[in-house]
Amino acid sequence: MAKVNPENDLLHVVGGRPLHGTIQVRGAKNFVSKAMVAALLASDVSVLKNVPEIRDVQVVSDLLRLHGVGVDVKPREGTVTIDAKHVELADVADVDTLSGSSRIPILFSGPLLHRLGEAFIPALGGCRIGSRPIDFHLETLRKLGAKVDKEHEAGIHITAPDGLHGAKIHLPYPSVGATEQTLLAAVLAKGKTELSGAATEPEIMDLVAVLQKMGAQISVDVDRTIRIEGVESLNGYTHTSLPDRIEAASWASAALATHGDIMVKGAQQPDMMTYLNVFRKIGGEFDVRDDGIRFWHPGGDLKPVAIETDVHPGFMTDWQQPLVVALTQAKGLSIVHETVYENRFGFTQPLIKMGATIQLYRECLGSLPCRFQQQNFEHSAVIFGPTPLTGRDIDVPDLRGGFSHLIAALTASGPSTVRGISLIDRGYEDFRDKLAALDAQID
Ligand code: EPZ
Repeated sequence: MAKVNPENDLLHVVGGRPLHGTIQVRGAKNFVSKAMVAALLASDVSVLKNVPEIRDVQVVSDLLRLHGVGVDVKPREGTVTIDAKHVELADVADVDTLSGSSRIPILFSGPLLHRLGEAFIPALGGCRIGSRPIDFHLETLRKLGAKVDKEHEAGIHITAPDGLHGAKIHLPYPSVGATEQTLLAAVLAKGKTELSGAATEPEIMDLVAVLQKMGAQISVDVDRTIRIEGVESLNGYTHTSLPDRIEAASWASAALATHGDIMVKGAQQPDMMTYLNVFRKIGGEFDVRDDGIRFWHPGGDLKPVAIETDVHPGFMTDWQQPLVVALTQAKGLSIVHETVYENRFGFTQPLIKMGATIQLYRECLGSLPCRFQQQNFEHSAVIFGPTPLTGRDIDVPDLRGGFSHLIAALTASGPSTVRGISLIDRGYEDFRDKLAALDAQID
């Protein structure tokens, strides 16, 4: 994707019309990038299918190429072929050009340590939805025998002169990224690794499936303990990504908010059970078919709900932003207690300016144990509805918040200009074409 110049990095939207039609959702953004990194673990060729054309895939492709790896992306077919027979240390300055672009580069650490004995990791990016530390990642790498030479603005230099060895690791919080970090580093480490308190999201289980195909020895126990027995070497894989359940839920929320009817091809029920329960509680209707799920607003009032985000199989933190827009149209008071990130309600400010009634609280408005209790974070929201929304100019703050602003503009009466729209390309493939296919009034 080419760099976008700010003056046309915007979308004019005239809201107030129901979204209706059919769209296709492809592979999960939060899986495909990790599977691409996993290909580094084998001096072989790997093929990943059902890959969406999104910025994260571009960033990982660029970083792989900087390390001498052959990457052939066929966006329309949705396949990425990775030839990792040869890997070399990238030029530090080149790696630095990718600083701030994503959080994925930190996951290169383990594979590059196995292939080269060292890794230079650019400073990370990712959505500004909390401090997003990487202490669990670095702790894991140190326990597996790596040395973090320096952690400075421009990135991190990690070495493992004697290779990596198995370790007993406990995650204080079931971090998705830290679990992936451990998986990618331990599969070729000498000996056994035991990871307790691991995350078990569907995207992680798909990464385990990829590693198992490559020859790794991994078990996931009922108590969230993942055990990995290091093996000598791994082979390339061929794998089709699971669908993006976050994108599917985002469009479902758009159907609710705009009184619409959207068939999301590719959506799968098992990954979305918790979302579907809430969708139905609010008053939405859905129909699970072989080729996807149809979501629609049956008419009448939407009902308010109280939800708490959590790790899998709880209500996913990435599902709440688009749903909050639908809740501004529900009749009554809804509550969202965000327990995964401390600062994920910034996107509500523009919604309030559009006419929404949303109050943020520092208190935990729910029963889940939460790390942000008695701290200074507004991580609970109360939403009163229904409130008519009026179109206005909006600046996109982050990926999921940005999509919720798009939904709000489509829900509002009158015109809106949504600026910084290219941020949404990070995780929503072809969303402009999809909006047009859903009869949205945009240009
Ligand atoms: C992944 O981020 C996803 N991103 C996020 O999706 C998703 O919201 C998140 O998992 C939770 O499901 C990708 O997969 C690229 P975490 P990640 O480590 O791995 C704390 C989207 O919009 N933590 O599970 O960065 C952290 O601060 C994005 O697609 C530490 O304290 O999330 C947070 O409070 C947004 N130290 C909590 O764990 C660490 O070293 C969950 O973070 C790592 C994490």
